[in-house]
Amino acid sequence: FFVTLRMWRVVLKPLVLGGQYEYILVEKRGENKNVGFIQLNRPKALNALCDGLMKEVGQALDAFEVDKEVGAIVITGSDRAFAAGADIKEMQNRTFQECYGGNFLAHWNRVSTVRKPVIAAVNGFALGGGCELAMMCDIIYAGEKAQFGQPEILLGTIPGAGGTQRLTRAVGKSLAMEMVLTGDRISAQEAKQSGLVSKICPVDQLVSEAVKCGEKIASNSKLVSAMAKEAVNAAFELTLAEGNHLEKRLFHATFATNDRKEGMTAFVEKRKASFQDD
Ligand code: CAA
Repeated sequence: FFVTLRMWRVVLKPLVLGGQYEYILVEKRGENKNVGFIQLNRPKALNALCDGLMKEVGQALDAFEVDKEVGAIVITGSDRAFAAGADIKEMQNRTFQECYGGNFLAHWNRVSTVRKPVIAAVNGFALGGGCELAMMCDIIYAGEKAQFGQPEILLGTIPGAGGTQRLTRAVGKSLAMEMVLTGDRISAQEAKQSGLVSKICPVDQLVSEAVKCGEKIASNSKLVSAMAKEAVNAAFELTLAEGNHLEKRLFHATFATNDRKEGMTAFVEKRKASFQDD
């Protein structure tokens, strides 16, 4: 019988491959299924971030962004590798013309424009684009054996998805320069010391700890969480005066929400707040 390309892509491929995605596993976790969960799933390539994988991550994020149940998102990899970087085999023969003309890696940016809070749970290698992907997230939890690095210099290139910018803001100039110029990796402990990650967990507890953090965030008002995220992120873009001004306006804006009223009323009535995200 006759199978068109479209039929294969839209109907048959998802059935054959057991889901909508080829390179990632996607589900909702937490007691109330309110944490969107994305697991990078190219184990043989140490989750190298090929174009198809990052497109799927973008699609999964789009779906969680509009899902009213989801209040936070966790991105993780395997115990061995969060992600070993952009796919070197895919990049090997690319020309400047193709990179510049096609704005290579621009779509990765979707991860940093999600309005819901995103937590990276990093076990194993987070190298190059893997480290950059983690840094696009809002919170990074690391497993005890995690390693972070920007080894692009060893390939004759430089980080291209925010590594020189976000790493420098996270760990300061000296350590960022050393990592970017030597390609040396840092351990989870060094990452914690330098402020790159907020928590270190045993390898086998990392994902559940990240989901727990996601559940805690999801139990608050989604509307107000988005405002809080916007305000913190503004600290990286604005002067102190501009940032404080934006914060003040967003703070004032929370007084237009029912959730702010509910939160303060619940406190005064000595009960747990029940936020409706409005
Ligand atoms: N791209 C494509 N394939 C990769 C990969 C990558 N970034 N990283 C690992 N792999 C593949 C390997 O080619 C290998 O596949 P084969 O079995 O088919 O040969 C498989 O994953 C396992 O890797 P290794 O055999 O190398 O495993 P190892 O335990 O000896 O070493 C490692 C692990 C130290 C992570 C090593 O794989 C490595 O150095 N990887 C590359 C890391 C890197 O340079 N990342 C930066 C990429 S550039 C970038 O990300 C640009 C950007 O800013 C966006």
